Amino acid sequence: MSDKNITWHEGSVRREDRQRLLGQRGVTIWLTGLSAAGKSTIACILERALLQRGKLAYRLDGDNIRHGLCSNLGFSAADRTENIRRVAEVARLFSDAGVIVIASFISPYRADRDAARAGSASGDFVEVHVKVSVETAAKRDPKGLYKKALAGQIKGFTGIDDPYEEPLQPEVVIESETCSAEAAAEQILNYLEKGGYLGHELH
Ligand code: ADX
Repeated sequence: MSDKNITWHEGSVRREDRQRLLGQRGVTIWLTGLSAAGKSTIACILERALLQRGKLAYRLDGDNIRHGLCSNLGFSAADRTENIRRVAEVARLFSDAGVIVIASFISPYRADRDAARAGSASGDFVEVHVKVSVETAAKRDPKGLYKKALAGQIKGFTGIDDPYEEPLQPEVVIESETCSAEAAAEQILNYLEKGGYLGHELH
């Protein structure tokens, strides 16, 4: 932006060049859903499956990113917005590099996810809703966080006393109540295959 005295410096290597080098198309697969919906588990299986097909994927995971890049953020609405903004920027850089990004974040606010999508060209952002009821998530409770939230020991916990806004038009919906993580990863893989993301035909 010229009002900040900074200017974009264009290079001579284009995204298409990198994609040709890697033999794949950069894309962001954005997994959204409640804590314990299965996002991270699905992301790990999907990352491995892509690797086995010779595709370079990289995971950005909510809990992990909060250990580093976003370690100064909490769970207020403003902090969650900033969390998603940073991650969306990182995802955009990785996909511009030609990598298949698998981002798994609760990302409870529709506006934040829409803003993340807005930073990508059409087709470069695949929103996946990993759908689960609060009841099932609270029953699974692998980290014991729902128990704490229900006991009032954690305030502002998504699904308990903080909102989750379901996606209106996600590219993929995973019915996590009935679908195994393996089947969910397969479902996403099929979407990518059908969409020509994994073929040799590079865009
Ligand atoms: S997001 O809302 O900003 O997208 P993010 O995906 O990074 O959240 O982190 C969610 C993880 O943080 C959860 O899986 C859970 O382990 C942990 N967590 C801690 N406090 C909360 C809270 N108040 N609400 C939701 N998740 C929380």
